[in-house]
Amino acid sequence: MKILVTGGTGYIGSHTAVELLNAGYEVLLGDNLSNSNEEVVQRIKTITGKQVQFEKIDFSDTEASSNFFEHHQGITAIIHFAASKAVGESVEQPLLYYRNNLVSLLNILDAMRKHAIKYIVFSSSATVYGQPDELPVTEKSPFQQANSPYGNTKQISEEIIQDSVKAYEQLHAIALRYFNPIGAHHSALIGELPLGVPNNLVPFITQTAIGLRKELLVFGEDYNTPDGSAIRDYIHVSDLAQAHVKAIDRMIHIENREAFEYFNLGTGTGSSVFEVINTFERVNQLKLNYRVVGRRAGDVEQVWADTHKANEELGWKAQLSLDEALSSAWKWEQFIRSI
Ligand code: WQD
Repeated sequence: MKILVTGGTGYIGSHTAVELLNAGYEVLLGDNLSNSNEEVVQRIKTITGKQVQFEKIDFSDTEASSNFFEHHQGITAIIHFAASKAVGESVEQPLLYYRNNLVSLLNILDAMRKHAIKYIVFSSSATVYGQPDELPVTEKSPFQQANSPYGNTKQISEEIIQDSVKAYEQLHAIALRYFNPIGAHHSALIGELPLGVPNNLVPFITQTAIGLRKELLVFGEDYNTPDGSAIRDYIHVSDLAQAHVKAIDRMIHIENREAFEYFNLGTGTGSSVFEVINTFERVNQLKLNYRVVGRRAGDVEQVWADTHKANEELGWKAQLSLDEALSSAWKWEQFIRSI
């Protein structure tokens, strides 16, 4: 069965491609290479020992997208990662974000109707919850007003999918709401490679450790948390990738379920910024240069996932520890700077 992975050479897309191939699926990767590199395709082949098809394609280009689906028949399901994801950039360039993230989704949903492709897994985010009233956050928590155009595209996308699934009977969708994906494949051949100065904590840590950045700035130690720094649910990207395989399996094989489902993907445990730093130092036997500064605008204090729904209905549970995630992130950073 052929699965199209949009954004397939990106961070989560490439790890998902590996897990799909390992599970026996045929994989077609589509990516515009705006934030990734075609070499990733070869690395996916090296890791899995399997063939994978790749095409450079921008799904927000309506004509190119339509041609793509004319040329690639026999797709059973789509995992849609292709999107812009920098929160700060989305505030500066909202139209770019709405166009990239929403038009691509519309083009893909159109193609699904035209070519009778029934299943889509959508890459959503825990940002849809904002700072929830109760922790851990369950799927029943309401969406909060998005605090960036990026977050808003994830909320609107879920609404577009929900309405489409209601209107078009054959369409089935699962939205996966990621908490904080970190780490890299254990081979260290694929991982996260942000363009420019990283926004996210773990790439900033690894780039500081390798000497690309002078120091890590810790944003705030006056939160109402045990050590004063903010708390997130950091999940290993390979665990996250496996959840996508479970979502595909579920849509294809299980009949009695809602046509649109959504699941939190996290570990169920929160870690503070200081805990992440200390763990990174311990597992990799090094010292990190860091300094505490004020809070970052728009950050929530603490959030972690209730994962019961994913455990029970998707049959998925995160297996890998924070230690493993931070050790793999460091191995990957060293590999990518050595070539
Ligand atoms: C984690 C913690 C920071 C950098 C964001 C997006 C979300 C998702 C993932 C996807 C926070 C602190 C960070 C640094 C720090 N998007 N921090 N120094 O903000 O939870 O989520 O990324 O693609 O939509 O909002 O993740 O990794 O940026 O921050 O102290 O240099 O680390 O303040 O508490 P966040 P993050």
